[in-house]
Amino acid sequence: MQIKDLAFKQFINKSKIQEAVRGLAQQINTDYKEKTPVFLPILNGSFIFAADLIKQIEIPCKVSFVKVSSYAGTVSSGQLKTLIGMDASLFNQDVIVVEDIVDTGHTLQKIVEELKSLGTKSVEVVALLRKEHAREKMINVKYTGFEIENEFVVGYGLDYDGLGRNLKEIYKAAN
Ligand code: XMP
Ligand code: MG
Repeated sequence: MQIKDLAFKQFINKSKIQEAVRGLAQQINTDYKEKTPVFLPILNGSFIFAADLIKQIEIPCKVSFVKVSSYAGTVSSGQLKTLIGMDASLFNQDVIVVEDIVDTGHTLQKIVEELKSLGTKSVEVVALLRKEHAREKMINVKYTGFEIENEFVVGYGLDYDGLGRNLKEIYKAAN
C-alpha cells in the first residue's frame, strides 16, 4: 500500500486490534469499578481507538478531549506546544489519558504534568501502541495494547502527513 512517497505493509490486523482493545477495556472496567473516570483522548490520532475502547467501558464514565497544537513561539529558537481542552472540570477527577502511540514520551510527559497541576485526583495512561526502545521519558503507561519496534505506523487513527487515519488495520513503513 502506498501513501504519497512511502510504501506500507500490513502490521496489526483488525481482529488483533479488537482483541487488544477488549483486553484494555476489561482491565479498566475492573480497576475503576468503584470510580467514575474521565477519559481524555488526545486528538487527533486517538479518536478511533478511544471510540472503540470507550464503547466497551461498562462503568459510569465521562469523556473530554485534548488537542496538542504546535505553533511558532515568539522565541526564535523553537516551537511551543500548547494544550487545548485542559480545564478546571478535571479537578479532583480520576483521569485516564487515551493515546494512540507513545514514542519518546515527550507529549505525554507534558500532558501528565499539566493534569497534575490542575489538581486531578489520579492520572493513568492507556496507549494502543508503545515504541519501547525509543522511550526517552520514564512515563508510566499503565495500560498498553502493543509494544512495537521503532517503526513508523499508520492506520486506525494514525496518519502519515494527515493521510491513512481511516484505514481499519495498522500498517508499518516497508523498508
Ligand atoms: P512522543 O515522542 O512525544 O510522540 O511520545 C507521540 C506522538 O507522536 C506521534 N507519533 C506517531 N504518529 N505514526 C504516527 O502516525 C507513528 O509511528 C508515530 N510515532 C509517534 C503521535 O501523534 C503521538 O501522539
Ligand atoms: Mg497523537
